[in-house]
Amino acid sequence: MKILGLCGSLRAGSYNQRVLAIAKKMAVDLGHEVLQDGDLNIPLYNADFEKVGLPESVLRLTELAALADVFFIASPEYNHSFTGVLKNALDWLSRGSKPVSGKVAAVFGASDGIMGSVRSQIALKPVLQNMGLFMLAKPEVYVRQADSAFDERGSLKDPKTIEQLTKLITDTLAFAEKLKR
Ligand code: FNR
Repeated sequence: MKILGLCGSLRAGSYNQRVLAIAKKMAVDLGHEVLQDGDLNIPLYNADFEKVGLPESVLRLTELAALADVFFIASPEYNHSFTGVLKNALDWLSRGSKPVSGKVAAVFGASDGIMGSVRSQIALKPVLQNMGLFMLAKPEVYVRQADSAFDERGSLKDPKTIEQLTKLITDTLAFAEKLKR
Protein backbone atom coordinates (compact mmCIF):
# COMPACT_ATOMS: atom_id res chain seq x y z
CA MET A 1 0.00 0.00 0.00
CA LYS A 2 1.08 3.58 -0.61
CA ILE A 3 0.55 5.82 2.40
CA LEU A 4 0.20 9.58 2.57
CA GLY A 5 0.58 11.34 5.93
CA LEU A 6 -1.47 14.44 6.64
CA CYS A 7 -0.94 16.38 9.86
CA GLY A 8 -3.30 19.10 11.05
CA SER A 9 -0.47 21.02 12.74
CA LEU A 10 2.13 23.11 10.90
CA ARG A 11 4.07 23.74 14.10
CA ALA A 12 7.76 22.83 14.33
CA GLY A 13 7.96 20.26 17.11
CA SER A 14 4.30 19.28 16.69
CA TYR A 15 3.25 16.33 18.86
CA ASN A 16 0.96 15.19 16.06
CA GLN A 17 3.86 15.17 13.61
CA ARG A 18 5.68 12.94 16.10
CA VAL A 19 2.80 10.45 16.29
CA LEU A 20 2.54 10.51 12.50
CA ALA A 21 6.26 9.70 12.25
CA ILE A 22 5.78 6.71 14.57
CA ALA A 23 2.78 5.46 12.56
CA LYS A 24 4.70 5.77 9.28
CA LYS A 25 7.63 3.82 10.72
CA MET A 26 5.21 1.04 11.71
CA ALA A 27 3.89 0.95 8.13
CA VAL A 28 7.41 0.79 6.66
CA ASP A 29 8.27 -2.05 9.06
CA LEU A 30 5.21 -3.89 7.73
CA GLY A 31 6.60 -3.54 4.18
CA HIS A 32 4.46 -0.64 2.93
CA GLU A 33 5.56 2.45 1.00
CA VAL A 34 5.27 5.86 2.63
CA LEU A 35 5.05 8.89 0.34
CA GLN A 36 6.42 12.27 1.36
CA ASP A 37 3.91 13.93 3.72
CA GLY A 38 1.28 16.18 2.24
CA ASP A 39 2.18 19.84 2.82
CA LEU A 40 -0.94 21.45 4.27
CA ASN A 41 0.58 24.93 4.26
CA ILE A 42 -1.52 25.85 1.23
CA PRO A 43 -3.83 28.76 0.32
CA LEU A 44 -7.32 28.89 1.77
CA TYR A 45 -9.90 27.21 -0.42
CA ASN A 46 -11.53 29.64 -2.82
CA ALA A 47 -13.75 28.40 -5.65
CA ASP A 48 -12.42 31.17 -7.91
CA PHE A 49 -9.15 29.22 -8.26
CA GLU A 50 -11.10 26.46 -9.99
CA LYS A 51 -11.80 28.85 -12.87
CA VAL A 52 -8.31 30.33 -13.23
CA GLY A 53 -6.11 27.36 -12.20
CA LEU A 54 -5.21 25.78 -8.87
CA PRO A 55 -2.21 26.98 -6.84
CA GLU A 56 0.96 24.88 -7.35
CA SER A 57 0.94 23.70 -3.73
CA VAL A 58 -2.64 22.46 -4.05
CA LEU A 59 -1.83 20.63 -7.27
CA ARG A 60 1.12 18.93 -5.53
CA LEU A 61 -1.06 17.84 -2.61
CA THR A 62 -3.77 16.57 -4.97
CA GLU A 63 -1.24 14.60 -7.03
CA LEU A 64 0.20 12.97 -3.91
CA ALA A 65 -3.30 12.11 -2.68
CA ALA A 66 -4.10 10.52 -6.04
CA LEU A 67 -1.05 8.24 -5.66
CA ALA A 68 -1.99 7.12 -2.14
CA ASP A 69 -4.08 4.10 -1.15
CA VAL A 70 -4.23 4.98 2.55
CA PHE A 71 -4.14 8.25 4.49
CA PHE A 72 -2.65 8.54 7.96
CA ILE A 73 -4.29 11.60 9.49
CA ALA A 74 -2.83 13.10 12.67
CA SER A 75 -5.42 15.42 14.12
CA PRO A 76 -4.62 18.00 16.81
CA GLU A 77 -7.48 19.54 18.81
CA TYR A 78 -8.20 23.26 18.64
CA ASN A 79 -11.25 24.55 20.53
CA HIS A 80 -12.82 21.10 20.78
CA SER A 81 -12.58 20.38 17.09
CA PHE A 82 -9.99 19.61 14.43
CA THR A 83 -7.82 22.36 13.02
CA GLY A 84 -8.57 24.83 10.26
CA VAL A 85 -5.35 23.75 8.57
CA LEU A 86 -6.70 20.23 8.19
CA LYS A 87 -10.22 21.34 7.20
CA ASN A 88 -8.82 23.58 4.49
CA ALA A 89 -6.77 20.75 3.00
CA LEU A 90 -9.74 18.39 3.15
CA ASP A 91 -11.94 20.93 1.41
CA TRP A 92 -9.42 21.13 -1.44
CA LEU A 93 -9.15 17.32 -1.59
CA SER A 94 -12.93 16.96 -1.77
CA ARG A 95 -13.01 18.85 -5.08
CA GLY A 96 -12.10 18.10 -8.68
CA SER A 97 -10.97 14.52 -9.20
CA LYS A 98 -11.78 13.74 -5.54
CA PRO A 99 -8.45 11.94 -4.99
CA VAL A 100 -9.37 10.50 -1.58
CA SER A 101 -12.81 9.11 -2.36
CA GLY A 102 -13.15 5.33 -2.02
CA LYS A 103 -9.85 5.01 -0.15
CA VAL A 104 -8.97 4.26 3.48
CA ALA A 105 -7.86 6.44 6.40
CA ALA A 106 -6.39 5.84 9.85
CA VAL A 107 -7.07 8.73 12.22
CA PHE A 108 -5.18 9.41 15.45
CA GLY A 109 -4.22 12.47 17.40
CA ALA A 110 -2.39 14.10 20.28
CA SER A 111 -3.24 17.03 22.48
CA ASP A 112 -1.78 18.47 25.63
CA GLY A 113 -5.00 17.88 27.58
CA ILE A 114 -6.37 14.74 29.24
CA MET A 115 -8.78 14.14 26.33
CA GLY A 116 -5.90 13.64 23.91
CA SER A 117 -7.78 14.86 20.80
CA VAL A 118 -11.01 12.88 21.43
CA ARG A 119 -13.24 15.81 20.42
CA SER A 120 -11.11 16.60 17.40
CA GLN A 121 -11.47 13.06 16.10
CA ILE A 122 -15.20 12.92 16.86
CA ALA A 123 -15.63 16.03 14.69
CA LEU A 124 -13.27 14.84 11.97
CA LYS A 125 -14.50 11.32 11.25
CA PRO A 126 -17.93 12.28 9.80
CA VAL A 127 -16.20 14.78 7.50
CA LEU A 128 -13.92 12.04 6.20
CA GLN A 129 -16.87 9.68 5.77
CA ASN A 130 -18.65 12.35 3.75
CA MET A 131 -15.58 12.49 1.49
CA GLY A 132 -15.91 8.77 0.79
CA LEU A 133 -13.12 7.58 3.05
CA PHE A 134 -13.40 4.25 4.89
CA MET A 135 -12.14 3.97 8.47
CA LEU A 136 -12.10 1.27 11.13
CA ALA A 137 -14.17 2.12 14.20
CA LYS A 138 -11.59 0.62 16.57
CA PRO A 139 -9.08 0.99 18.03
CA GLU A 140 -9.22 4.69 18.78
CA VAL A 141 -5.85 6.31 19.43
CA TYR A 142 -5.60 9.31 21.72
CA VAL A 143 -2.22 10.59 22.86
CA ARG A 144 -3.08 12.39 26.08
CA GLN A 145 -0.95 15.03 27.84
CA ALA A 146 1.31 15.02 24.83
CA ASP A 147 3.84 17.35 26.45
CA SER A 148 4.99 14.39 28.58
CA ALA A 149 3.95 11.46 26.32
CA PHE A 150 7.26 11.01 24.45
CA ASP A 151 10.69 9.95 25.65
CA GLU A 152 13.92 11.66 24.60
CA ARG A 153 14.13 9.48 21.44
CA GLY A 154 10.66 10.57 20.33
CA SER A 155 8.99 7.24 21.16
CA LEU A 156 5.65 7.05 22.92
CA LYS A 157 6.07 6.14 26.59
CA ASP A 158 2.69 4.54 27.31
CA PRO A 159 2.63 0.83 26.29
CA LYS A 160 -1.18 0.84 25.91
CA THR A 161 -1.06 3.76 23.44
CA ILE A 162 1.71 2.02 21.47
CA GLU A 163 -0.39 -1.17 21.38
CA GLN A 164 -3.47 0.73 20.14
CA LEU A 165 -1.55 2.63 17.47
CA THR A 166 0.12 -0.58 16.28
CA LYS A 167 -3.26 -2.31 16.02
CA LEU A 168 -4.86 0.64 14.23
CA ILE A 169 -2.06 0.79 11.65
CA THR A 170 -1.85 -3.00 11.14
CA ASP A 171 -5.62 -3.51 10.86
CA THR A 172 -6.17 -0.44 8.65
CA LEU A 173 -3.51 -1.56 6.18
CA ALA A 174 -4.90 -5.11 6.09
CA PHE A 175 -8.38 -3.69 5.48
CA ALA A 176 -7.08 -1.45 2.68
CA GLU A 177 -5.40 -4.43 1.01
CA LYS A 178 -8.65 -6.38 1.12
CA LEU A 179 -10.58 -3.44 -0.29
CA LYS A 180 -8.12 -3.05 -3.16
CA ARG A 181 -8.32 -6.75 -4.14
C1 FNR B 1 -5.33 24.28 21.69
N1 FNR B 1 -5.13 23.13 22.45
C2 FNR B 1 -6.20 22.37 22.86
N2 FNR B 1 -6.02 21.14 23.49
C3 FNR B 1 -7.09 20.37 23.83
O1 FNR B 1 -6.91 19.28 24.35
N3 FNR B 1 -8.37 20.81 23.57
C4 FNR B 1 -8.61 22.01 22.97
O2 FNR B 1 -9.77 22.34 22.74
C5 FNR B 1 -7.51 22.82 22.60
N4 FNR B 1 -7.72 24.03 21.98
C6 FNR B 1 -6.65 24.72 21.45
C7 FNR B 1 -6.87 25.83 20.66
C8 FNR B 1 -5.81 26.48 20.06
C9 FNR B 1 -6.06 27.66 19.17
C10 FNR B 1 -4.49 26.03 20.30
C11 FNR B 1 -3.31 26.73 19.64
C12 FNR B 1 -4.26 24.96 21.10
C13 FNR B 1 -3.77 22.70 22.78
C14 FNR B 1 -3.23 21.75 21.71
O3 FNR B 1 -3.67 20.45 22.01
C15 FNR B 1 -1.71 21.80 21.75
O4 FNR B 1 -1.29 23.10 21.34
C16 FNR B 1 -1.07 20.75 20.88
O5 FNR B 1 0.31 20.79 21.10
C17 FNR B 1 -1.39 20.96 19.40
O6 FNR B 1 -0.88 19.95 18.60
P1 FNR B 1 0.59 19.97 17.95
O7 FNR B 1 0.79 21.31 17.29
O8 FNR B 1 1.57 19.76 19.06
O9 FNR B 1 0.57 18.85 16.98
